[in-house]
Amino acid sequence: MITHVADLTLHTVSLDGVRQFYNGLLGLPIASETASEIRFRVTPFTTLTFAETYEPVAPAHFAFEVPWSSFSDVVAYLKREAGIPLLRWPDGRETIDDGTLANAYFRDGDGHLLEVSAHRYVREDALPQNGPVKILYLREVGFPVEDVSAFRGWLSGRFGMKLAKVHDDFTFAIGGTAHAVVVSKRRRWIPIGMLALPPNMTVTFGLSGRDAPARIRAWAEGETVLSADGDGLTILRDGYRIRFAAKTDVPADIAARLHLP
Ligand SMILES: [Fe+2]
Repeated sequence: MITHVADLTLHTVSLDGVRQFYNGLLGLPIASETASEIRFRVTPFTTLTFAETYEPVAPAHFAFEVPWSSFSDVVAYLKREAGIPLLRWPDGRETIDDGTLANAYFRDGDGHLLEVSAHRYVREDALPQNGPVKILYLREVGFPVEDVSAFRGWLSGRFGMKLAKVHDDFTFAIGGTAHAVVVSKRRRWIPIGMLALPPNMTVTFGLSGRDAPARIRAWAEGETVLSADGDGLTILRDGYRIRFAAKTDVPADIAARLHLP
C-alpha cells in the first residue's frame, strides 16, 4: 500500500533562489544538483525537487509535519532565525492552534505555498526529526481539480487511498503518511485566499511490500501511462504526473507506528 510521498517535483524560475530558500533558510541538505534541477533531502525517505523552466510557475501547496511538542520552536526558528514572514489569516493571526492541530503558512520565492503542521496524535519518536524545522514527513500535497468527486474516487478506488473530510470542494485522500489534498479549482487556498491554479508537478508515492511492483504494474491498466520501468510507473491524470514507486525504506505499518487515525 502507499506509505509516503517519496518525491515532489515542482517548477522554479531560479535554482539559486530555491537553493537559498530551501537549503539556506529551511536547512534541507542538497541531495543532487544539475544545470537544470536541484533535489533536496527532506527526510531519509523523501526528496523535494525543483526543475528550472522558462514558463510561469503556478504555485503548489504542500505541508511538512513537525512534532506537536516542538511546534512553537519550529515557528520561532522560521520567524527569527530564518527570517521568513509567516502569512496571516484575515484576523491577523499567524498560527492556528486548536488543541489538536497547529499550523503556519509561508511562501517560497516562486510563490509555492508551504505549511508546517503538527497534530497532537502523531507519535514523535517513530521517525527522525530532520533539520532545524524538525520535519517528520511530507504530509500534504495539493491537487486542484475540476471534478473533486471523480479525482478522489479514482485515488480511493484505484489505489486504495482512504478518504477523510469529504466535501463537494475538498477531500483528503490518504495513503500512509501521504495526504493528497483534493480541492476544487474554485476553492481558494487558506489562509491568504490564494487562487488554486493547478501546479505543474510530479508527485511520487512510495509503496512498500514485496507485492508492490506487481501491484503498481496492475495499476497501468486503462490509464495514460507516461513511463514505466521495473519498479515504477508514471500516470498522467488531470494534468498531474503521478508516479508510483516500490520502496523498501518505509515500513508498511508506518501509519500505525505514528498513531495516525
Ligand atoms: Fe494544507
